[in-house]
Amino acid sequence: MWQKLRDHHARVADRRFETLVDVDRAADFVAQTGDVRLDYAKTNIDTEGRALLIDLLEEAGVAAKRDAMFAGEPINETEGRAVLHTALRNLDGDPVLVDGVDVMPGVLDTLSRMERFADDVRLGDFAGQGGKITDVVNIGIGGSDLGPAMAVQALAPYHDGPRCHFVSNVDPADIAGVLRSCDPTTTLVIVASKTFTTIETMTNARTAQAWIRQSVTDTGAQFAALSTAEDKTAAFGIDPSRVFGFEDWVGGRYSIWGPIGLSLMIAIGPEAFRAFLRGAQSMDRHFRAAEWQYNLPAMLALVGIWHNQICGHATRAVLPYDNLLSRLPAYLQQLEMESNGKGVSMDGADLDVPSGPVVWGEPGTNGQHAFYQLIHQGTRVIPCEFLVAARGHEDDLHHQHQLLVANCLAQSEALMRGRDLSEARSKVADKFDGKELERQARHRVFTGNRPSVTIVYPQMTPEVLGQIVALYEHRVFVEGAILGINSFDQWGVELGKELATALQPVVEGKESADSKDGSTAALVDFLQNHGVS
Ligand code: F6P
Repeated sequence: MWQKLRDHHARVADRRFETLVDVDRAADFVAQTGDVRLDYAKTNIDTEGRALLIDLLEEAGVAAKRDAMFAGEPINETEGRAVLHTALRNLDGDPVLVDGVDVMPGVLDTLSRMERFADDVRLGDFAGQGGKITDVVNIGIGGSDLGPAMAVQALAPYHDGPRCHFVSNVDPADIAGVLRSCDPTTTLVIVASKTFTTIETMTNARTAQAWIRQSVTDTGAQFAALSTAEDKTAAFGIDPSRVFGFEDWVGGRYSIWGPIGLSLMIAIGPEAFRAFLRGAQSMDRHFRAAEWQYNLPAMLALVGIWHNQICGHATRAVLPYDNLLSRLPAYLQQLEMESNGKGVSMDGADLDVPSGPVVWGEPGTNGQHAFYQLIHQGTRVIPCEFLVAARGHEDDLHHQHQLLVANCLAQSEALMRGRDLSEARSKVADKFDGKELERQARHRVFTGNRPSVTIVYPQMTPEVLGQIVALYEHRVFVEGAILGINSFDQWGVELGKELATALQPVVEGKESADSKDGSTAALVDFLQNHGVS
């Protein structure tokens, strides 16, 4: 099927897809569910290409793989684990079995405990030594940071709890900056780490412990922990009543829906958090039930496969025209690249197609004044994914929102249409003539024919955010299933961790750098001469 798609691509690659876009296509090349609509009409995928992509998906057995995931089978084969983040938003509590045991009573019990604790913090029934909690500091990294940090930002209009801060980097500048703005006697520190061994998180947690200890007698009382490793949270001195556990079948980058979402729940309240879960749950239902052509995650994945594995466009720009989603690109970098940045298939053979794409982006319209130059006129094609709401939350500034929407729509139109030489000439014909006119005009040509998709929704609400995040999770799943890889492990992060541990005594000057390669030894030498050890 890959070859059939490549052959199809070879036949259509040179056509201008703009010529395909009429009213019928605009109604046909969309997928919609709940509040979210995906428009992929501005791509070079035609009816035949779409049918071939769906054949590819079927040939890869995506339906069976999807059902195995929801059924709790150990589809994360290299770690021998089930993949059940969807159970965390299974609000109806329908049984989900892992090794024959229903996990839902435990999931719902933890959700209730989180809700009680979040309410206590928000109402002041849980207080610090100095009184009601004013600040929450979530210490975590990767999936224990990016999800809640992104969602707290996205749902800022619903934020009526204490201030939330996120510390992730082991760079002391990160934690020092946050702690400077907080009062230790009214700060709750949440240590978020699935394993409770991650060096950056544990180092920052100990720094926070020392900071609290300077002003508070019962240090442990102002800590909570989110982890699968309850023995380690106890050893750290956190009372079990403030430990919110989860199981190893929740991957770090898929963990926002459970305890790792505690800071979000404290920020927006348990009711809004449930709405966030409900949104995701509705996307799960859609993903399980909708025919592929109408299935939002599946179609978004197939567009991704078309652009990356078939057309050879190695990167994908995520461009939210929604400032609330300013952390979405960073969140998706982990979700997509840690999941699908794999070079071997599940059975250990080398992949014979490219792995998942490089994902990057920034909110519009800021990007327009920075890197869009390359998107429009650079020599590489960068498929773009725009996200935009019909309404913002600032009713009195709706005219600004309209300007934002116009900018978003203009970008996808400009990418598709471009501007040819004669149009470019007419733009500058009043200023130049002859050879100079030709030269100046060429700089103003836009090739166009550059694909994009647009995801639209009424307004950024907890429910919509839940739908969008679950949409991306399932998109990653479908792309990974088609590639035949394991989207749920992350062995690629291990080597650097091991080498960092070995390098620490070298950097500190306790061991010689002689065993290191020449470049590393010379870098250590420079840094030591300038004060690192
Ligand atoms: O190093 C990568 C990683 O394992 C991510 O997958 C994970 O989200 C992050 O580190 C943090 O891990 P933990 O929650 O165990 O501290």
